[in-house]
Amino acid sequence: MTTNKEMIGRDEIDDLEAILSVTNTDVDAVMHAVNASPDAIFTWDYSRSRPALAKLYEKAKTSQWNATTDLPWDTEVDQEKVVLANMAQNGENGFFSGDVDLAGTPFAKWGDKQWIELGVESQNWTLSQFLHGEQGALICTARIVETVPWIDAKYYAATQVMDEARHVEVFAKYLDDKLSGHYPINAHLRLLLDDIIADSRWDMTYLGMQIMVEGLALAAFGFIHQLTTEPLLKKLLRYVMSDEARHVAFGVLSLKEYYAELTQAEIRERQEFAFEAAVRMRDRFLQQEVWDRMGVNVKEAVKLVMMDETRGMFQSMLFSKIVPNCKKLGLLDAGDGWLRQRFTELGVIQFEDWVDTADEYGSLDEVAKDRAAVAGA
Ligand SMILES: [Fe+2]
Ligand SMILES: [Fe+2]
Repeated sequence: MTTNKEMIGRDEIDDLEAILSVTNTDVDAVMHAVNASPDAIFTWDYSRSRPALAKLYEKAKTSQWNATTDLPWDTEVDQEKVVLANMAQNGENGFFSGDVDLAGTPFAKWGDKQWIELGVESQNWTLSQFLHGEQGALICTARIVETVPWIDAKYYAATQVMDEARHVEVFAKYLDDKLSGHYPINAHLRLLLDDIIADSRWDMTYLGMQIMVEGLALAAFGFIHQLTTEPLLKKLLRYVMSDEARHVAFGVLSLKEYYAELTQAEIRERQEFAFEAAVRMRDRFLQQEVWDRMGVNVKEAVKLVMMDETRGMFQSMLFSKIVPNCKKLGLLDAGDGWLRQRFTELGVIQFEDWVDTADEYGSLDEVAKDRAAVAGA
């Protein structure tokens, strides 16, 4: 049996020392190479035998948008104002909920100035991580074009490559033009992307990227889209989400077919990979780099974050797309419910019966809705 140590590098999931010991050492590097040697697969079978993927491909062709002309880039963004609006919605300090007693901690002395600065840094950090994650998606999807053996999947993946280039483009532009600073990739996110890319099995790219990373992104974008009062970011996220919903659906539809052929032992490896990815993504949301930049003791800050139950509840919502999609793929209950048990320990199993993305992607296509509205006007 694979141990926690082998999967996630530590025995206890909540081992804070071990979580914080993972840091980025080469923050000034401009390049990062990951060694991988998957086979590039040609197929001579050009028949269109997968109607669900063909339908997705048609949808992708008509829902392309232009990052340069379809978003209101002339919107003035006052980052502090955005933070103050978030604070007004979320309670006094905009970060910790009332569950946590800050007396005796470094935060007890903080005034508006520091809380606003934290909000600004958190936003710079969050959007920076989205940007790096999008580049991960760009690379993974280009990989899938080469490695997936089905022609309908190659066609679809090719449209996703364009989508991801657009996503990298919009997040980079938003950070450069509207926010006040970049962060390097979070160490836990980088470990996860490295793991996905280093695995040469084509279906593991899908599981790591389309199901786990993009499933989480879809929920996270939805969350911020709902919360933010900033109109440019709102529309940007709405459009990115339209694409992401298709991407996750692509993962679900492809893996559903492929997993039906796998043995119990092979499925178990996929379950372990999903668990490892889930833990890495949870670790990344502790935003250790922000605490560091704010000059507070990282361990002390992260401990308080972990004690904040209301915050934890919102954070578990980030898994609200991943869990139903894993269920649809049969990953939750295979092998005596190994993954069900792990997701229960992570506190996210309650989402298992929420709608899966293969069923809902059409309803999330805001680009198509906007086009229909313009055509009908
Ligand atoms: Fe994306
Ligand atoms: Fe995507």
